[in-house]
Parts: sequence; structure tokens; C-alpha cells
Amino acid sequence: MFVHALAALLQTQIPGVTEHRVENIFKPLASPAESESNIAFFVLAITAAIFVVVGGLIVFTIIRFRRRREDDSRLEPPQIYGSNQIEAAWTVIPILIVFVLIGVSARVIASVQNASPPQSTLKVTVVGHQWWWEVLYPDYGIVTANEIHVPATADGKTPTYLRLESMDVAHSFWVPQLSGKTDLIPNRVNYMWIDPRQPGIYVGNCAEYCGTQHANMFLRVVGEAPNAFHNWAAEQRKLAPRGDAQLSQAQTAFGTLACVNCHTVRGTPAIGRFGPDLTHLMSRQTLGAGVLTNTTQNLQSWVNDPQQAKPGCFMPSMKLTDEQLNQVVLYLQSLK
Ligand code: CUA
Repeated sequence: MFVHALAALLQTQIPGVTEHRVENIFKPLASPAESESNIAFFVLAITAAIFVVVGGLIVFTIIRFRRRREDDSRLEPPQIYGSNQIEAAWTVIPILIVFVLIGVSARVIASVQNASPPQSTLKVTVVGHQWWWEVLYPDYGIVTANEIHVPATADGKTPTYLRLESMDVAHSFWVPQLSGKTDLIPNRVNYMWIDPRQPGIYVGNCAEYCGTQHANMFLRVVGEAPNAFHNWAAEQRKLAPRGDAQLSQAQTAFGTLACVNCHTVRGTPAIGRFGPDLTHLMSRQTLGAGVLTNTTQNLQSWVNDPQQAKPGCFMPSMKLTDEQLNQVVLYLQSLK
């Protein structure tokens, strides 16, 4: 399982898009992640200074007032009680430090969580499912899964507001280079926003234990130049393409199988909602929420038996004949 996860993290390749293969929490590439990183280092610096002062005093005291060989009197040192200045100092200074930390944290939390979206920003709804991410663009009528395309510009003027929901249990949205974690909770809506500064793939994962395949619930935020994003959106809005006679045979085969009870292919009778929308499956890099790269061979083995790559997932092996499997894969691969 770990090997699958690692492979999914490492095998990322969208032509023309800069890659960020490894998620590096120390290299924030969006405003929320940056302000969170800054505050983390600020708190670390203050607490490190406290540690050095307190630790230094302890070490100094241990050495300076250790029992010496020549001094065998075993007398207690002088006992001092009641210094108002010292007691006031060690009460007031920590209180000030705590209030500074509270104030700075509250400001960052408010800016990351409560900012209301300007009219012009992209709105995306992310719905957590066991164990994949449904991604909806309400203003565009797009439904996709596991890969969230958003505009990315260096000036951060194209933020994306995320509305986070869950269909089943609590999940957590975490793309380290873009922002901290925000939970997706049943019967509750959370919000966050991201503004990737450069085009590229930002890899994330579910960060709240949500069942057996929690560790294989990858998500990818694909930051694109605004033009590329609009091209992508225009393609995604289209209905599933209709092909030649051979393809319509494959589509018919697909339509007679139980696949259509769980999956939607817009523009066809398949309108299931339990699993990911497949209308433009081939535009995605991965299968099974990041466990496999989207190649012919992997697609074939995934459809044949998803339980091999992702044991416990809710897509069963359909026990297709070789002929049916070939038809289904042929049809799915037409969904560009
Ligand atoms: Cu979804 Cu862990």
C-alpha cells in the first residue's frame, strides 16, 4: 500500500505544467500557507528564546552553585522570600508574551478562514467521500474528481474559494504548499481559500483518518495560467464525445453494465452519483484518487478489480469477461 502511495506521489506528469513532486511544508507557494508558515516560525523563535533563557539559567545555576569538594558544610544556601519586583516581572512578561501570540494567531486565523470571496473569484466545492474527492465548479457546471484545476498567478490575484463538505465521515483537505488543513465534516460547511503563485501540481492528501483507504485519498491541485485554466474549463463543460460505430458499440456495452448505477457520463444515460463523474476521465492523471497513474494498463486492471490497488474501496470487481473489459476500457478511453 505504501509503495502505491509513493508511486502515486512520484509519478506525476502533465505535459506543459511545472511539477511539484514532493510536498514541502517549508516552501509555501500560496498566501494562506505563507502566513501560516510565518506565524509558525515566529512562535518557534519566541519559544526558542524562552527555552534558551530558562535552560541557560538552569545550567548556570547547576554549575555555579554545585556542591564543592572543599565545602562540606552541608548548609542550605540563604533562603529569600518576597521580592515584589521579581514576582511582578515573571508574572507580567509571560502574560504579555501570551497575549502577543494570541493576537498574532487570531489575525492569521481570521484572514485564512473568514475572508469572504470577492465576486470575481473562482468558487469550487469539494466533497469528501470514502475515499475520493468530488470537485464541483457551480459557476461552470463542471463536475470532476480528485484533481482540482485552478488559476495560478504570481500576484495572487486569482484566488479560489473552496467550500468543503462531506458525504460520509470526516475528512481533511490538506495541500501543504497551499494552506493548512481544514476538515470536511458531514452536515457542516467549511470554507478556505488558496491562491497558488506558480503553475504546477500541488500534491495533497486527506489528513483526517476516514477509514481503511484514508492514506490513499490523494488530491492534486493543478495550478494553471489563467488562459490554460479557461481552456481546461471549456473542455470540461462539454458533454461526453460521441464516437464512431466501434465506439458506440463499446458505449452500449458500458451502458448495460452496473457501472452506470454509480458513475455519471454527462450526455449519456449514465447518471449514477455514488462514484466519480467519468465524463472527462482521460483528462485526469490518476485513477482511484491517486493510487494509479492513468495508463491503459492501469485502467484495465483497475476496472477488472479495484480491490487489488485499493483494498476495501467501494468499487467492486464486476467480474467482467475479457470482451466486456476491453469494451469498457475502450469506451472509458474515449472520454477525453
Ligand atoms: Cu478521507 Cu482520510
